Amino acid sequence: MTSFRSAGEMGMPRRNRALLGTVVALAFSLLGGAALAAAGPKSTTLSAEDKVCLECHAKPGLEKTLGNGEKLSLMIGAKGFAQSVHNSSGCEGCHSDIDAATHQKTPKDIATRRAFSLELMETCRDCHKKTVKQYEDSVHSALVRDGSEKAPLCSDCHNPHATQSAKDKPAGNAEPVACQKCHEGVTKAFAESVHGNTGDEALACKDCHQTHSVKAASFGNQMKAQCLSCHKDVATTHAAWLPNTERHLEAISCPACHSPGTTRRVNLTFYEGTTPEKVGVPKFVKLANWTDAKGSGLDARALWTLLQDFNNNGSEGKSVLRGRLEVQTGVQAHQLAQKALALKDCNTCHREGAASFQSVTVSMAGPDGRPLRRDASKGVLTSIESIGSVGGFYAIGSTRIKLLDTLLLMALGAGIFIPLAHLTVKLVSRRARPHGEAAAPEAGRPTPPAAGEGPGDSTDTH
Ligand code: HEC
Ligand code: HEC
Ligand code: HEC
Ligand code: HEC
Ligand code: HEC
Ligand code: HEC
Ligand code: HEC
Ligand code: HEC
Ligand code: HEC
Repeated sequence: MTSFRSAGEMGMPRRNRALLGTVVALAFSLLGGAALAAAGPKSTTLSAEDKVCLECHAKPGLEKTLGNGEKLSLMIGAKGFAQSVHNSSGCEGCHSDIDAATHQKTPKDIATRRAFSLELMETCRDCHKKTVKQYEDSVHSALVRDGSEKAPLCSDCHNPHATQSAKDKPAGNAEPVACQKCHEGVTKAFAESVHGNTGDEALACKDCHQTHSVKAASFGNQMKAQCLSCHKDVATTHAAWLPNTERHLEAISCPACHSPGTTRRVNLTFYEGTTPEKVGVPKFVKLANWTDAKGSGLDARALWTLLQDFNNNGSEGKSVLRGRLEVQTGVQAHQLAQKALALKDCNTCHREGAASFQSVTVSMAGPDGRPLRRDASKGVLTSIESIGSVGGFYAIGSTRIKLLDTLLLMALGAGIFIPLAHLTVKLVSRRARPHGEAAAPEAGRPTPPAAGEGPGDSTDTH
């Protein structure tokens, strides 16, 4: 790309640049080399070819009716294009299939504007390989491949006919409203947060999400690395007052303590070993519908059944459930405030009936990396029946706490163990043991791993 870069983009004042452009364009036309312009420095004068196109296309009112009845304006601003970075490549750079003389007589069928944008997006690849590759790695692109009509294409953020260089803009943002357009609530929350309300110093969305390779964010702890890249000493500073720091930072998302007034939930996620399980998605949907036919939320038994099923098929003993205490909405994730407002009170979580543990969801990574979620009944955290899969209880001092063993591994063996274990669990639960007491190992069956001793616990806890 550097070969395209003009002196102007390297910091020459605008007026000189325009002047240079004119001189260069003049030189080119003297050489009869309009075609050369494609490889030459940036010009703000239109090439002869482009002028031909704009003879018709700069006129207001030219439009075309698309397959869905939508009217597409065919007007392209001549001045905007002349000043854009793409003036150097010309209309031809992206519309090489168009013959100026004939195309208006043989109308091309275009179903929708979106379909047209999607088709033409392919041309960006010719000159912006790296950016296209980053984009294709994003959740947005995955959504598009999945048929989303709403996820952004290149031209939702860049007007191909008027793109200016980001370097020309003071804030360095080609299109500052690029994310806001579709994520309004989050953008507003962010603007008022500790990262967003500091004027020129404020972070931008891309500081945590990237611009083109935006990844799914609301799943597991993947955003934590971003936070730690700037706040390097978090583990040390928190250890000054928070025992078991590592475990807390693993099991609680940063916004869950740093967004004041937030509502929290426990999210249980299926993992295959240490990576979020994806293979089971269709099965998850099917089984979840089946086990939760009433729609009242997955209960402990349903979870048990799901885990059993995952572990029965090939990936024996590898499917685990991990828990995380997190905020309930994307907006809340962006309401981070100064440290004085952060949650420090142990009692907020470590007491019976703590509000944070009253809402439970179960999720699995969807095909685009975003989670598929189902509600679970809050009873799964304390149900004796689910001890083998997600339950676990801790006592600190004299306070009885009922906490999910968020990191407990479910390593179910195949074969005879499963029917036996299931039966035993039923028996155990019928015995109406008081909640909050760990089940003693039953005779005649292998014990489901308890906190800290499961075979996979080491991979999970650290
Ligand atoms: C003589 C006038 C004229 C000229 C010159 C002209 N166009 Fe068009 N163009 C049209 C009309 C009219 C349509 C709408 C055709 C229709 O209704 O299907 C159109 C449609 C288009 C479309 C929409 C897609 C399509 O094929 O329908 C594109 C893109 C386009 N022109 C690009 C160009 C480019 C690039 C050039 C120069 C190489 C150019 N045009 C030159 C009149 C013109
Ligand atoms: C950098 C690539 C690029 C260049 C250069 C370019 N176009 Fe386009 N053009 C597109 C894309 C992409 C679309 C599809 C619409 C969208 O996604 O906004 C489009 C759409 C159009 C349309 C349909 C109306 C519309 O806005 O969707 C016309 C007409 C058109 N271009 C004409 C031109 C003319 C005339 C030129 C030269 C003056 C030109 N284009 C230069 C990429 C380009
Ligand atoms: C024929 C080559 C060509 C094609 C095709 C092309 N571009 Fe460009 N583009 C350029 C050149 C040359 C520049 C200016 C040099 C640079 O900054 O990389 C540029 C710059 C840009 C910039 C601004 C970069 C900056 O400096 O901030 C954006 C955004 C952009 N193009 C988007 C697109 C999109 C979207 C498409 C597809 C619709 C597209 N381009 C297709 C050649 C092309
Ligand atoms: C969600 C909005 C969004 C989408 C979608 C998007 N861009 Fe960008 N792009 C931006 C912003 C904002 C910038 C300004 C620089 C920055 O903030 O990283 C930018 C910068 C660029 C640049 C300048 C160099 C660079 O990589 O920073 C190019 C080239 C570019 N985009 C091309 C594309 C192409 C090609 C596509 C489609 C494959 C695309 N963009 C999709 C928002 C977007
Ligand atoms: C044209 C609309 C559009 C634009 C522009 C856009 N997005 Fe998105 N984005 C979506 C849609 C649709 C989804 C999927 C539904 C959802 O999660 O909101 C999505 C999903 C996401 C996700 C994943 C959400 C999750 O659940 O993990 C993130 C992160 C994201 N966008 C960030 C950004 C950032 C950062 C920008 C600006 C660089 C941006 N988006 C620009 C439409 C857009
Ligand atoms: C300081 C880092 C940071 C910045 C800056 C940031 N985000 Fe986020 N974003 C996060 C975190 C962390 C999450 C996920 C929280 C979780 O679920 O653990 C997230 C989640 C999201 C999601 C998914 C929300 C959902 O519905 O679950 C979207 C969309 C999003 N961000 C968009 C944006 C946009 C747009 C901007 C700019 C206005 C932005 N983010 C700025 C950290 C950031
Ligand atoms: C259990 C709740 C809790 C969790 C989880 C938590 N924090 Fe904190 N954090 C606090 C409290 C309380 C303070 C204020 C401590 C003080 O000043 O006494 C704080 C202070 C901070 C500070 C201020 C400077 C410093 O280091 O003391 C930063 C930055 C910070 N946290 C970032 C993070 C990040 C990043 C994460 C996620 C990896 C995180 N926190 C997770 C409660 C939490
Ligand atoms: C690009 C760097 C960057 C990233 C990424 C980032 N922060 Fe920050 N953060 C800052 C800056 C700069 C400040 C304001 C100066 C300061 O107090 O350290 C700040 C302030 C904070 C504060 C307030 C600290 C105080 O002293 O009151 C908290 C809490 C915080 N960030 C948490 C997070 C969390 C959680 C994430 C991840 C979702 C995150 N940050 C990601 C740069 C970053
Ligand atoms: C935001 C909720 C929250 C806050 C605030 C909180 N904790 Fe925790 N704590 C948890 C969660 C969740 C776990 C992880 C349980 C697990 O891993 O199974 C945990 C684990 C622990 C453990 C480890 C138990 C074990 O068996 O390893 C101790 C000890 C503990 N917390 C003490 C404290 C103390 C002391 C404070 C106050 C300084 C505190 N916690 C603040 C939620 C919280």
